[in-house]
Amino acid sequence: MAFEFDVITLFPDMFDAITKHGVTGRAKENEFYGLYTWNPRDFTENVYRTVDDRPYGGGPGMVMLADPLEKAVTAAKLRQTASGVSEMKVIYLSPQGRLLDHELVKELGQLSGLVLISGRYEGVDDRLIKRQVDEEVSIGEYVLSGGELPAMVLIDSMVRQMPGVLGDPESANQDSFVNGLLDFPHYTRPKVYQGDIVPEVLMSGDPVRINRWRLQQALGRTWLRRPDLLALRIKRGMTAEENKLLEEFKKAYKANQNKMNQGKE
Ligand code: ADE
Repeated sequence: MAFEFDVITLFPDMFDAITKHGVTGRAKENEFYGLYTWNPRDFTENVYRTVDDRPYGGGPGMVMLADPLEKAVTAAKLRQTASGVSEMKVIYLSPQGRLLDHELVKELGQLSGLVLISGRYEGVDDRLIKRQVDEEVSIGEYVLSGGELPAMVLIDSMVRQMPGVLGDPESANQDSFVNGLLDFPHYTRPKVYQGDIVPEVLMSGDPVRINRWRLQQALGRTWLRRPDLLALRIKRGMTAEENKLLEEFKKAYKANQNKMNQGKE
């Protein structure tokens, strides 16, 4: 059974960006997942189809009304159940939420459906969150103009992990973060670009050497750029081979630094 996404949004067309393009577009066409949108405006009862109002207590901006959102969430949940979804969560995309990372992507992938609430304006009435939301998710420590892009980021990150979505079954496993490390560098033709040559090992045709080099680059880049991630990876346990590759990388890196410093003197 396909994973089902139901999205509550004032801008349903924005979701064409993922449903009609690239990997996520093809995956939708091939029914790896379903995506259905609900516009809270369709659940209003006044002629102006109002979905927001001024905040109690004053201050700038508007707040989304609880009632149209609650009705949209109820309709979305009914569709999830009717589609055969047994394990579902309602998620509100917000800067106050748990930071999205690969762990959370995997965790949510264990469910069979998600109802995603994309807010606009200053936010949504807190009572709606208390009544209907299971978890708040943030995609980073910055503020966007709405929850649509965050919802699409979440959907994309989940869809590419679905078995069979990426042509080569190894592709998703080789993504950055999947093994707790950053990605290794990639090269394609030509062999020499602006005087810069592709590392010799990648042209050796020797899969053992190539994999070792890639793992070493991933370890080395994580050491250089994300020491916090490397510390976690070390805590989880590194193999003797991984330790050896990282030490080799550090030694070569430091030797290169010394050489460059000497050149400056
Ligand atoms: N809505 C606005 N900013 C957001 C963010 N950083 N993450 C999730 N939802 C948001």
